[in-house]
Amino acid sequence: MKQAAITAVGHYVPEKRLTNADLEQMVDTSDEWIRTRTGIRERRIAADDEATSDMAAEAARELIRKNGVDPAAIDAIVVGTVTPDMLFPATACLIQEKIGAENAWGFDLSAACSGFMYALATGARFIESGQHEKVLVVGADTMSSIIDYEDRSTCILFGDGAGAVLLEPDDEYGVTDIEQGIDATDWEQLCMLAGGSRRPASPETVEKKLHVLRQDGRPVFKRAVSKMAEITEGIMERGDLAAEDVRYLVPHQANERIISATADSVGLPMERVMLNIDRYGNTTAATIPLCLADYEDDLRPGDNLVLVAFGGGFTWSAAHIRWAYNGLDV
Ligand code: ACO
Repeated sequence: MKQAAITAVGHYVPEKRLTNADLEQMVDTSDEWIRTRTGIRERRIAADDEATSDMAAEAARELIRKNGVDPAAIDAIVVGTVTPDMLFPATACLIQEKIGAENAWGFDLSAACSGFMYALATGARFIESGQHEKVLVVGADTMSSIIDYEDRSTCILFGDGAGAVLLEPDDEYGVTDIEQGIDATDWEQLCMLAGGSRRPASPETVEKKLHVLRQDGRPVFKRAVSKMAEITEGIMERGDLAAEDVRYLVPHQANERIISATADSVGLPMERVMLNIDRYGNTTAATIPLCLADYEDDLRPGDNLVLVAFGGGFTWSAAHIRWAYNGLDV
């Protein structure tokens, strides 16, 4: 069976920076608190006329431009996001139109911070089954559109961005193993309560601020630490990978303390952990492809990567990838 290899990467973050110093002017917080509790220094914020499909299309355009990909050859577009431009049409349809992928079909899937991983798992199956030759997998979120900038416990965490990878069949390299899970116990600890079919938008939902992300940070933190460690250990055991075999751990960027606890649990030093939370914060479905884009020059074909994410739902996923792409030779 062919594997689904990542053969190209693209990314996009908006120009505007929201620094910890800016947040000190907006809510009762401090740069020191934010840095020591989360590792974040600044995040990017979309322009007023910029939505998720715009950022995702920019990431896809970068991937296309750098690698000479013909947009018309893309068979499918799978998008992980919790902040689609609107409930429908799907962000995938809007991206298809913006990048001229005229022969592609596609859809969005909702798995919060595990969104990119679920999209990767789905895209990989289309390649492995032989149904498709080129699948564009996107993780993109405009978190600033669902954040309450008066809530200091959440507004310091999130930022906006988009990342994309291209999957193609390969005999040797690719997604070697991927697992995912869900558990809705205590889902209220991390959610957006209104705007769906249970509580459609109304003056009351707006007045009660139900159209923004809410999170009980401490229990989510505990759960994230234990699940990220458990599934990272599990995927390494299944792939017979010792710590020294792993070139990089690629963790969802929710909190640097969660990331370092995960790395510790499998004996990986922080030099072999992809980290960009200091510059982008938590961009939800975009964190993992943004990491891949930041570190791609440092990767060589055959490198073992362990990807891991945990988020609202609750959702989680871990994967073992043998890297195929060196950024030059596709
Ligand atoms: N500035 C200053 N003080 C603050 C701030 C702030 N920005 N935010 C909260 N505090 C205060 C609290 O009010 C509390 O004060 P108290 O003790 O007087 O009540 C104190 O700091 C400690 O608050 P905690 O919430 O316990 O702080 P904690 O160390 O847990 O850090 C954080 C909070 C950063 C949110 C952490 O809990 C976290 O990272 N949680 C998990 C995030 C995550 O992984 N989410 C899943 C992915 S996101 C997704 O799927 C969309």
